[in-house]
Amino acid sequence: MEQNLTDKEVYNKNFASFYNYVLTEQAREYGKYILNYAKDNLKGNSVVDYMCGTGNLLRIFEKENWTTTGVDLSDDMLNIAKLQLSKTKLLTKDVTLEEKELKNCFNLAVSTADAVNHLSSIKDIENFFYNVFSSLKLNGFFMFDMNTELGARANCSYITLSTKDYISVREGFYDDVHKMGYTRFQGAYRKNKSDNYVRYDSIIYNYIYPISQIVDILQDVGFEIVCLKDGYSDKVYNKDRTKRVLFICEKRK
Ligand SMILES: C[S@@+](CC[C@H](N)C(=O)[O-])C[C@H]1O[C@@H](n2cnc3c(N)ncnc32)[C@H](O)[C@@H]1O
Repeated sequence: MEQNLTDKEVYNKNFASFYNYVLTEQAREYGKYILNYAKDNLKGNSVVDYMCGTGNLLRIFEKENWTTTGVDLSDDMLNIAKLQLSKTKLLTKDVTLEEKELKNCFNLAVSTADAVNHLSSIKDIENFFYNVFSSLKLNGFFMFDMNTELGARANCSYITLSTKDYISVREGFYDDVHKMGYTRFQGAYRKNKSDNYVRYDSIIYNYIYPISQIVDILQDVGFEIVCLKDGYSDKVYNKDRTKRVLFICEKRK
């Protein structure tokens, strides 16, 4: 198999702009859900968004006067986030590397839109969860979502979209042997309302892990599982139905 590109290369300049243009509805929807949950269930108002991408979720928290921090390894995604955010501290970091700067800082940590499925090994996920745990204050919450195998299979579709401003072709493929989803996005979008179009072509990799294994790692790291939900809804996680799991965890000691 060819060597996969790293996310630093995948979320490149052209794809980052397309992502922000077309693929951020989820971040906004999930941000509103998480904000409401946080208002009802936790104290304090500092939030970190790990693998924050172009920062659309953080905008929602900025508007509510939370203290906001975003972390991502792609400079191209963060450069767009910088334009959209005014008070947020943005850090270029790989979330799987040992973290010394962010200790006991936040009441809430989030990671959305299957960002955790971008981590390519269980070791990387463990390292990430340790970093999240140590960055939270006592009674801080960690809320993140992951695609399940059902979700990855459901993404195996071919979709074309076109408006006067862009054309997008999306092809999904699930590799059963390696438990990996591939989604290729290609097309072109109009630059600054001119007649010039910018081409993009990127493949996003989604690594699928058993949900029970993720729960075990969270508990080993020290988290209490508050609940697992069937997506951003009121329903609980169901092994036979859930395509995307929302994990809600707390640091209680
Ligand atoms: C699907 S996007 C999600 C962005 C954002 N959370 C949202 O809801 O729109 C995944 C993001 O994870 C970032 N990423 C992937 N691996 C990473 C890593 N090891 N460390 C930091 N960021 C990473 C990518 O650069 C990309 O911006």
